Amino acid sequence: MELKEAIQLRRSVRTFESSPVEREKVEEMLRAAMQAPSAHNQQPWEFLVVEGQKKLKELSQVHQFTTPLAEAPVGIVVLMNQKRVKTELFWQQDIAAAVQNMMLQGVDLGLGTLWMGVAPDEKNMAKVKEICKLPEEVEAFGLFAVGYSDRNRFKDRFDASRIHWESY
Ligand SMILES: Cc1cc2nc3c(=O)[nH]c(=O)nc-3n(C[C@H](O)[C@H](O)[C@H](O)COP(=O)(O)O)c2cc1C
Repeated sequence: MELKEAIQLRRSVRTFESSPVEREKVEEMLRAAMQAPSAHNQQPWEFLVVEGQKKLKELSQVHQFTTPLAEAPVGIVVLMNQKRVKTELFWQQDIAAAVQNMMLQGVDLGLGTLWMGVAPDEKNMAKVKEICKLPEEVEAFGLFAVGYSDRNRFKDRFDASRIHWESY
């Protein structure tokens, strides 16, 4: 698949087929994530891959919009390790770049994904930390559902009026 096609097809997928996702595909997605740019090349990311129904169910209750995780074959908890952070200011931007790579790689592999926001909401970050028994220095950035789906569909959002050439 061309990069352009993956970018255009990617949509938020909230229901998945029951088939499991191959570990190699999950690893391929995380390989793409780790290729992202980051401030000072700090690469603050770590990933917790969850396939167990019990933990997925618990994670699906973190907030009202995380429910799709209960039926997803795979959940990825995207994490920040404080020990890897060189500049506090930018870790969320670094990880946002990584997860976009991850999702686009997923589309290329025939998978659907859903990004469910956690950081910077401290209450939800604490909930995920508790459910996943994360060490003190590790924080949750976001929750991701991954699974097979044919729901990736192009919706054209191009809007020329948002582009300002040379001056606003
Ligand atoms: C930071 C962030 C947080 C999001 N949180 C949720 C969420 O908690 N639950 C959900 O169903 N979708 C969530 N989404 C997905 C958006 O609703 C979705 O990307 C948007 O509606 C555009 O649709 P599309 O992804 O199909 O293009 C989130 C997206 C981002 C970038």
